[in-house]
Amino acid sequence: PKGGKILVLPGDHIGPEVVAEALKVLDIVEEATGARFERDFDLCGGASLDKHGDSVTEAVLTRCQQVDAVFFGSAGGPEWGHSQPNPESGLLRIRDRMQIFANLRPCFFASQSLVDRSPIKPGIIKGVNFTIIRENCGGAYFGKKIEESDYGCDPWAYERSEIERVARVAGAVAMQQEPPMPVWSVDKANVLANSRVWRRIVHEVFEKEFPKVKLQDQLADSLAMLFITKPTAFNGIIVTDNTFGDILSDESGGLTGSLGLLPSASLAGPPAARGQQPGLGRNNAGGVTGLYEPVHGSAPDISGKGLANPVAQVLSLAMMLRYSFNMHHEAEMIEEAVKKVLDSKADGGLEVRTGDLGGKAGTREMSEAIQAEVRRLLKA
Ligand code: NAD
Ligand code: IPM
Ligand code: MN
Repeated sequence: PKGGKILVLPGDHIGPEVVAEALKVLDIVEEATGARFERDFDLCGGASLDKHGDSVTEAVLTRCQQVDAVFFGSAGGPEWGHSQPNPESGLLRIRDRMQIFANLRPCFFASQSLVDRSPIKPGIIKGVNFTIIRENCGGAYFGKKIEESDYGCDPWAYERSEIERVARVAGAVAMQQEPPMPVWSVDKANVLANSRVWRRIVHEVFEKEFPKVKLQDQLADSLAMLFITKPTAFNGIIVTDNTFGDILSDESGGLTGSLGLLPSASLAGPPAARGQQPGLGRNNAGGVTGLYEPVHGSAPDISGKGLANPVAQVLSLAMMLRYSFNMHHEAEMIEEAVKKVLDSKADGGLEVRTGDLGGKAGTREMSEAIQAEVRRLLKA
């Protein structure tokens, strides 16, 4: 029997709006396949601060460790601007507690009809398709912080085991295609000691465990520039540290023209190929433990108006089905449904697009169009 246990943390602002729509897609998957997803709902971020005085409670952190996957919206907003801790810290504590150390952030066009929405010239951006694998539990984000009135310090450190495990995820994902995808390891080894250690250990892992994968080094600052001038030159896998991955993945959102389109998966081990079982980070559902959330934030500027694009959250659901529940077919059909809805304009059909994509549709309307396609494709 397929399915398992999920914890839903909708978070703040547009988080609950788009999460509710994505869960309707999950309802259709249940109907079509007989899979059952036991859903718990809880608070994280500003919503948790308001109710419990903390950005996440110990009870929620414990529950995160018990479920097969966490489905996350987004945390934060101006009304908690000066609160201590801040809403975003809830998400960081969950990443740490779940040890979901590999954050996969793909950059691609869900539909070719979106290419001309990009701020980059079509000839340069067309065909872009890379995945950033961001180290998600170490580096400057974690470790012993010092915060005094005149001094602040975030030690930026990595140890061997942290580098090895994320490098292995990059290698495993690269090997899922034949021929394997090229991998770029992104660092600042010309300046940072932790980057030099990163670079050396990533090479050791690939030489020993992934000899067929072409591994190249790339400095983070020049990659930020090359993303604009030659983005398709990086089609493949980009594995990088927590801070560089944070910045470069927002930049990749800018490349495709809307943050409302990009999903992410944070995994506790390498994803298993179709038909295979995962090792490290395996959950009770036969997949990898993970947390799934859009790359975008809580978009307070458009919340409460039914304007948010639900696509990134829906595509995050597809990633959850693929990686945490081994439901590859259903994941592909959801992706196909999103593409169909986005293509409808190109096909001369009815345009169903939210404002961030230049359309007039609301969250509900776009979500309903996607649901109808999913229903058709899964024959629910
Ligand atoms: P944001 O991603 O929330 O918004 C940036 C811009 O993109 C805004 O104009 C917004 O309207 C638009 N946008 C984002 N998602 C959209 C969608 N689905 N549909 C249509 N338009 C969309 O970034 P921000 O404004 O810098 O951050 C807002 C809050 O979210 C902050 O508190 C930030 O810390 C937090 N944040 C949370 C997460 C997370 O929980 N994972 C990630 C990033 C930012
Ligand atoms: C992201 C966000 C988070 C991060 C914040 C909200 C803690 O920007 O997921 O990219 O910096 O990792
Ligand atoms: Mn970010």
